[in-house]
Amino acid sequence: MSKKERIDKILSNIGYGSRKDVKNLIKKGMVSIDGNIVKDSGMKVDPYETKIYVRDKLVRYRKYIYIMMNKPEGYVSSTDDPINNTVVDLLDDEYKIFDPFPVGRLDKDTVGLLILSNDGKLAHRVLAPKNHISKTYFAKIQGKIDDEDITRFKEGILLDDGYKTMSSKLDVLKNGDISEVCINIKEGKFHQIKRMFKALDKKVIYLKRISMGSLKLDESLREGEYRELEIEEINLLTK
Ligand code: URA
Repeated sequence: MSKKERIDKILSNIGYGSRKDVKNLIKKGMVSIDGNIVKDSGMKVDPYETKIYVRDKLVRYRKYIYIMMNKPEGYVSSTDDPINNTVVDLLDDEYKIFDPFPVGRLDKDTVGLLILSNDGKLAHRVLAPKNHISKTYFAKIQGKIDDEDITRFKEGILLDDGYKTMSSKLDVLKNGDISEVCINIKEGKFHQIKRMFKALDKKVIYLKRISMGSLKLDESLREGEYRELEIEEINLLTK
């Protein structure tokens, strides 16, 4: 089956303006395909099989995008918000045109691994409670962690709304007035980690997500930075 489409439609769909804008670009000789300047805006091409250049820049054609972000503090995990800055605001226009949304939420003050995509099916696979995709967090906790806390995480913790969490893993990295821990949970209730510690009379003072499924945060990304995922990395999200 041919996947050929009109070049003006292809470019318009991925954010190069209206069909009229694209026609103008073509008229000005700014669009080329496999090295030949396009003259006819109705020319049909397969965007996956040809190299399309606009203003000498290669157009990376794809239907879905998958972005890994190291979310900074102070941004909300939504696509728009009347008051706060959103994680989508951090993206360049070349990504925003795909209408990505956060796959799962991190609180405004939580940092770390956040996936943004426009692939609804993937989001569903990652977020469906029955799939129990694991998430790992690094946290700083006010106060000492004792063996009882570790047991409570293992056995499930009764939250303030009466929900009992599934068995989860609490590893202590540093114990003291401010303790450092690693938590692995297989669900994602609202404010889950903070509420689990609250039920133990403890306060989370720093929270960073470091993995989802088998995908780890690329630590070379500074807070606020992001990059596209490699194909193999997309699959790790649900493993
Ligand atoms: N648990 C929380 O309490 N907050 C987050 O942002 C993620 C997990």
